[in-house]
Amino acid sequence: MKNLSIAVLPGDGIGPEIINQAVKVCDSIAKKFGHKIKWNHALVGAVAIDATGNPYPEETHKICVNADAILFGALGDPKYDNNPMAKVRPEQGLLKMRKKLGLYANIRPTFVFPSLIDKSPIKRERIIGTDLVFVRELTGGIYFGEKGTKENGKVAYDTCLYSEKEIIRLAKVGFELARNRNKKLCCVDKANVLESSRLWRKTIQDMESNYKDIEVSYEFADAVAMRLIQSPNMYDVLVTANLFGDILTDEASVISGSMGLMPSASIGLETSLYEPIHGSYPQAAGKNIANPIATILSAAMMFEQSFKLDEESKMIKKAVNLCVKESILSEDLVKPNVAYSTSKIGSWISDRILSL
Ligand code: IPM
Ligand code: MN
Repeated sequence: MKNLSIAVLPGDGIGPEIINQAVKVCDSIAKKFGHKIKWNHALVGAVAIDATGNPYPEETHKICVNADAILFGALGDPKYDNNPMAKVRPEQGLLKMRKKLGLYANIRPTFVFPSLIDKSPIKRERIIGTDLVFVRELTGGIYFGEKGTKENGKVAYDTCLYSEKEIIRLAKVGFELARNRNKKLCCVDKANVLESSRLWRKTIQDMESNYKDIEVSYEFADAVAMRLIQSPNMYDVLVTANLFGDILTDEASVISGSMGLMPSASIGLETSLYEPIHGSYPQAAGKNIANPIATILSAAMMFEQSFKLDEESKMIKKAVNLCVKESILSEDLVKPNVAYSTSKIGSWISDRILSL
């Protein structure tokens, strides 16, 4: 029996609806295994700006720091998207949260559910067996390097800066993941052009001797963008810098057939955060139509990574697999007239756990 304290940050758009389903599922797991979960709700994103003027308020940070793990929905609101002059934006909350919590490694898996393989826009023979994981650096690089404008705003710059220490700590996560998977690691960079990428390559080459069981390859990010679509099943673990990871993980998510299926974990120095890879999907907010599976699978990653409760994690994944197999699907995957609602899918999975 464990006492678990989880910070829950629903955020904006469909965030609250999908988070509610993950909470239901975690509560079922707690009931089944005799754990006690204390949920601490906090604001982030546009809802936090509306309430406090700050997209990541100090109060939220305190709740996150004191939790065993953080479950996060999504953030973003269209009222900020077409206003480049807005001084505060919801996305700043996410970047602040990543930096202040030291969420340095973003783990984003891509896999296919066999029964959904034909939902993918890519031909089944290309994607069959795909099971890869991106480990994206999340608190450095061009996102956080020196930036600014000069010449009266007519010139602008962002700097991509990486230290050996940042690369080692990220690559370690990748190597260790690969060790428990198919023992292949690909370093994705632009070492043919960028100095910072050459440091990535050299640093990872130096680490190879500590991981003799892992087959390491080095590929350029543009080539990976192509091969991800041509033959994604040749990859296992891919480690990469912040911006390359941002772009390539959106691309990879298409393989599964819906962004609403893929979870993620952001490993922190102290506390880690779990969230679906999709955004706040404002058009669907409040309609009870969004797919909760990515968030529920993020909760499964939380049980495994933060709580070291493998059996619990496996049970969530098993219930999700059964749900998908039995075609209990939302409208991103089936026609609206036969789709199940967000809350029905959440209840189906949490009930199924109790009867497993
Ligand atoms: C992501 C998002 C964020 C990013 C945005 C919302 C700041 O696209 O988590 O991938 O660019 O990292
Ligand atoms: Mn992104």
